[in-house]
Amino acid sequence: MNRKYRKTVIAGNWKMNMLASEIKPFMEKLAAAMPDKKACDVVLCVPGIMIPAMVREGKKCKLHAGAEDCSQFEKGAYTGEISAAQLADIGARYCITGHSERRQYHGETDMLINAKAKVLLKEGITPIICVGESLEQREMDLTMEYISYQVKAALSGITASQMRHVIIAYEPIWAIGTGKTATAQQAEEVCCEIRAVIRGIYGARTARAVSILYGGSMNAGNAKELLAQPDIDGGLIGGASLKPADFAAIVKAADQ
Ligand code: PGA
Repeated sequence: MNRKYRKTVIAGNWKMNMLASEIKPFMEKLAAAMPDKKACDVVLCVPGIMIPAMVREGKKCKLHAGAEDCSQFEKGAYTGEISAAQLADIGARYCITGHSERRQYHGETDMLINAKAKVLLKEGITPIICVGESLEQREMDLTMEYISYQVKAALSGITASQMRHVIIAYEPIWAIGTGKTATAQQAEEVCCEIRAVIRGIYGARTARAVSILYGGSMNAGNAKELLAQPDIDGGLIGGASLKPADFAAIVKAADQ
């Protein structure tokens, strides 16, 4: 973390879990466990249908609602899709894009992710752009090349002033939902490289202002060490964000 230059962000990703009716009791437990004044921004990204409830309940403990995906199109005949404007209209402040599960199960490409980041920025929503290598790529020593390509592709055509509203999340695929966390050193190495790529495109001032998160089995036990790394400015948390006590413990770790 480096609070002098950039925000610390703790973002939960509920994926396709929970029900809208469970949000109120969840938030009551979370509010009781979380510090009232926080040094970090706290976000919960939830399925589109649950965003209004998350906006309402989140206000009680200064937590922002986020979405998990959006359409790359602005509006029109795209059955089943939700646009960035529609997300902004119901109060979503953040939106994940490029999560490896969407790349894997929905064939999302780097170009598509770039288009989604652009429509989100246009609507004033902060994109949380996810990048991450597979275990095979890591074993073949391709991690840095691959991540650098993903970051460059996702940011293509995004201006330096827009970049101040972009968050990058480094999520090694082999660490997501597996209980296998990258070591703090492995995570820092890649997050530092991501910042170097951003520096190469936008310069040092912009690069030092971008929050870079780590995601992949972050939990109450390992958060402190990961967040102590200079280039890790927060977390994108799946499993542990479904448990109020665990999520609150990560927020506390980010507050230290
Ligand atoms: P996990 O998920 O914390 O359950 O590994 C992280 C994510 O997919 O964003």
